[in-house]
Amino acid sequence: MSMTSRPDHSTGITSDSDAAPAPPCTFVIFGGTGDLTRRLLMPALYNLARAGLLDPDFRVIGVGRSAMSDAAWRDGLDRDIRSFAADPSAEFHAERIDERSWGWLQDRLHYLQGDIGTPEFFAALADRLTGNVVFYLAIPASAFGPAIDRLGDAGLLREAPGVFRRVVIEKPFGEDLASACALNRRILAVAPERQFFRIDHFLGKESVQAIMALRFANVMFEAALHRDYVDHVEITAAETIGVEQRGSFYEPTGALRDMVPNHLFQLLCMVAMEPPESAAAEAARDERMRLLRSIRPVTPQNAARGQYAAGAVAGLPVPGYRQEVEVAPDSRTETYAALVLDIDNRRWAGVPFFLRTGKRLGARRTEIAVHFRRPPADPFSSLAFAGTAPNTLRFQIDPEHRLALGFSARAPGAAMRLQAAEAAYQAPDAEAEGSDVGYEALLYGCMRGDATLFQRGDIIEASWAVVDPLLRAWSEGTPERYAAGSDGPASADALFARSGRGRRAVGQA
Ligand code: BG6
Repeated sequence: MSMTSRPDHSTGITSDSDAAPAPPCTFVIFGGTGDLTRRLLMPALYNLARAGLLDPDFRVIGVGRSAMSDAAWRDGLDRDIRSFAADPSAEFHAERIDERSWGWLQDRLHYLQGDIGTPEFFAALADRLTGNVVFYLAIPASAFGPAIDRLGDAGLLREAPGVFRRVVIEKPFGEDLASACALNRRILAVAPERQFFRIDHFLGKESVQAIMALRFANVMFEAALHRDYVDHVEITAAETIGVEQRGSFYEPTGALRDMVPNHLFQLLCMVAMEPPESAAAEAARDERMRLLRSIRPVTPQNAARGQYAAGAVAGLPVPGYRQEVEVAPDSRTETYAALVLDIDNRRWAGVPFFLRTGKRLGARRTEIAVHFRRPPADPFSSLAFAGTAPNTLRFQIDPEHRLALGFSARAPGAAMRLQAAEAAYQAPDAEAEGSDVGYEALLYGCMRGDATLFQRGDIIEASWAVVDPLLRAWSEGTPERYAAGSDGPASADALFARSGRGRRAVGQA
């Protein structure tokens, strides 16, 4: 962000006088009446409108199966955005809606009824489109390939000089290495890589992007993030929520597929990749890919899985996973996954990376914790230590957005004694203000043709390749049960203990 940027606390958006509006385009949403559109895409477009980052000729075409007028679609979205704004648990909330910006966007919302399973629909769509178009696939993953084939057949992905045609693809991209490779082959036969923008919403989080700034715009963090100083790294995405109403999606998916080769690997790349040689999208994406290719594929011996049983979260009783809606009573799907990764490169060889994620755990916490070695020679070793611990560097992503450095300092008093101390930086980000839903940077980047925050096809394949042996092994057997509200299965403790490091409780600061 430039020196001219200024946080505007009245709106929660960081306005940047250097940021230009995205080029004019038509934003076509397949899945226009779905949850993603209502909860995330519309609020993100509204935030972009409010920040002046959309062109006057911007417009949206929402595509859905139900018959509906433009006015009815707009009215529904109007009710949604107002009720989300007032709900502190929603991704989008705001004290008030800026009526001018929302009205500006509403004037540009159009609805088109159609079945994306039919070529006739694409012919009708083609009649409505000229110039730049972003097609956003907010539809089930099984429909990605067929929809892209039809876009290609209808000539809708043909670009001309100065005219772009782009496709945004939601997660999950494939369900293992083979299916991801097949989907890549299928879509790249229709249009080149530069026209595809594969989403991983963790890359849209300001607190995740902030890690790149801290690492590569400073020398001290960067120098210390090296095997000479680091003992181990923990990457955690712990959730208190259960599977909610998504049982039919989650049953064939599980925690490993849902969170690890995508979200947790984004965090891993942020903390472990080499500095990109420039700010160009491909420079950062090349470094992410290089890192992923140097991770050793995970075996079951280096992993643990669990499934939540009934328990209590925040004092309230909650059912077990097998009692959830659309979940089999004898389900073997894991809701918790823990992995120890080895990275075979010069910076990280020998430093274990502990990754864990799970639902219905005791506390919500997404963070990267770097644990440093003890000093090689310690002049204070004969002194009474009062609670000192090795240095830590913690990139906290959720629910706080913080960087915290743990170190030892002199304790007050006549005698020389040491105590543990912490210095923290709280980033003044729009996300923390509660208004930014995390899709703003992604949508703006896509409209501007900046793919930095998107997944390239080969990166996705490299990620699946790391977990593929584990996916195959976990198609057999049953995960260990853990009580909802706990820290996860005992086998994860045993795994981390075997690797020589104890595991902190999820809620422990
Ligand atoms: C989604 C997963 O991609 O990410 C969900 O499908 C998970 O199961 C969610 O809850 C976590 O994202 P966040 O931003 O809430 O940490």
